[in-house]
Amino acid sequence: MRTGTITGDLVRWYEAARRDLPWRLDSDPYRIWVSEVMLQQTRVEAVIPYFERFMGRFPTLDSLAAADGDEVDKFWEGLGYYSRARNLHSAVREVCERYEGTVPASYDDFRSLPGVGDYTAGAVLSIAYNQPLPAVDGNVLRVIARLFAIPDDVMSQKTRKTVVGIVSGLLPVGRASAFNQALMELGALLCMPKSPHCAECPVAHHCAARQRGLQTSLPVRARKSAPKDVHLTAVLAQTADDGSILVRRRPARGLLAGLWEIPNWAAPEPNSVDLETTVLSAARSQALSNMEPLRGRRLEEMHCLGQYTHTFSHRRWIMSVYHAQVDARSHCREPYRWVDRQERTMYTFGQVFNKIFREHLAQ
Ligand code: ADE
Repeated sequence: MRTGTITGDLVRWYEAARRDLPWRLDSDPYRIWVSEVMLQQTRVEAVIPYFERFMGRFPTLDSLAAADGDEVDKFWEGLGYYSRARNLHSAVREVCERYEGTVPASYDDFRSLPGVGDYTAGAVLSIAYNQPLPAVDGNVLRVIARLFAIPDDVMSQKTRKTVVGIVSGLLPVGRASAFNQALMELGALLCMPKSPHCAECPVAHHCAARQRGLQTSLPVRARKSAPKDVHLTAVLAQTADDGSILVRRRPARGLLAGLWEIPNWAAPEPNSVDLETTVLSAARSQALSNMEPLRGRRLEEMHCLGQYTHTFSHRRWIMSVYHAQVDARSHCREPYRWVDRQERTMYTFGQVFNKIFREHLAQ
């Protein structure tokens, strides 16, 4: 049995067990920052290909700062939570203007940039610059809640503060990078949510939850409220001549802000594909009145493509999607645009719309 401190045992284990992740190749603060932003809502395995592609196109902070926002969106497409990309883009531009392109090592300066919260500031500055700052994400909350048998709801601000205090007290001067990553790595590889691998854990002998047999009942999490259902009708209007489709840019604020979509609107009541004839005629008249470029047109061959659901953190879209054929492109203004197959690849759409394209349009 090991007899070191929690900190010493963890860091030793990390040095031996750490995964070779692409953002661990060096300590470039820009690369680490991008990785931390991508990892905020997305698993490591899913992030890796996006990270590689993003770094291939924007290898330096200057190259990202100089890029066009729509192109940054395109390289973020599929990761979701686009406000992360927008904030990162604004923040690197600010770093170029105010800090000559060097990620500021001062906590206050870095923390004041768009999208940089306590977690991101602690993670980037500790991993890149070895600053003794805590970086408490979901994995770390779980690991610490178990090690110290914290019985309180880990989603509460009060418990988070307790955990931040514990991690701050454990941080070894000069080894903050390894220590914070060790906590994250332990949460990812051994101290998993459902079935922790305690037999292999380097700090099992320090673990209060294990001593009390509580390792699978901790952490305590208050139930999140279920996302609210939103029923929508979407109409994919397509020209008979060259197969162009009518798309629309979403408002600059809110869900999927500034991205492109198949025009859609709130369905009057929960839609059901079974009542096809009735809902079909309702969708047709809604399309004609809601989609400005279709005013006064004939919608030929309209039919239902199916029902698609997509869950965001607080909303679940339940979208009935219709296909409507029109003879040719009509005059259209912002936020609408007609795009052909080639043009469509230049625009960034939310995942649910790409799924509809994949299933119903020639790629
Ligand atoms: N999750 C969040 N940040 C991480 C990192 N730097 N390495 C692995 N997993 C992480």
